[in-house]
Amino acid sequence: MSRINVAIDGPAGAGKSTIARAVAKKLGILYLDTGAMYRALALKALRKGLVPGSREDVIPILADTEVTVRNNAGTQITYLDGEDVSQLIRTQEVSKGASDIAVIPEVRIKLAELQRNVARENDVVMDGRDICTYVMPHTKNKFYVTASVEERARRRLSELNEKGEYLEYTLEKMRGEIASRDHTDSTREFAPLTKAPDAIVIDTTCMSIETAIETLVNNIRL
Ligand code: CDP
Repeated sequence: MSRINVAIDGPAGAGKSTIARAVAKKLGILYLDTGAMYRALALKALRKGLVPGSREDVIPILADTEVTVRNNAGTQITYLDGEDVSQLIRTQEVSKGASDIAVIPEVRIKLAELQRNVARENDVVMDGRDICTYVMPHTKNKFYVTASVEERARRRLSELNEKGEYLEYTLEKMRGEIASRDHTDSTREFAPLTKAPDAIVIDTTCMSIETAIETLVNNIRL
């Protein structure tokens, strides 16, 4: 039996996770948010006072760090060494830390192995930065979801503001943080963010999330 493995890559705030979660629900299959795994590792490094971008700091903690995920009615719960950190990993500090820690090849190798195990054992929609290009390059269902940096900053800020957070942030500050993360993600040496040549591009700048979900579902090959 062949698995349904849907791979979605793209930059921060393009709508990937909303789209991926909805597509998984429509297809009745699992959703895996791989960014949450990088975020959990970054949280551990930050809690220990380590520098997430430093190999010397991070490599020693990798072997005895356990990042696991569980699906709870379509919502992912992310555990760090057994602790539910699903909410704690959604800060701007952890966003930056995740981008920095994700540059370290040993981190990527460890997390990609966990992600490939999930894809081997489940029909899954997985979103991230290197899913089409590195984690599951052989899947026939590859998508690149993107949007302009202005639009992505606007969405990310209103998402956080709706929760009553980062009310002091200006759009300009958020735009700067997103652009800086884009740069780190797309210029790293090992498995950078880039569009796979055979990925279908969905630009959500002027597209509703509903249309994006529909477009993606209509392009899935079983
Ligand atoms: O939700 P958002 O798009 O802001 O970020 P995320 O998907 O939670 O990912 C956080 C950070 O983890 C990204 O900036 C990437 O640097 C890194 N990441 C990665 O390198 N590879 C992945 N497959 C997923 C995330």
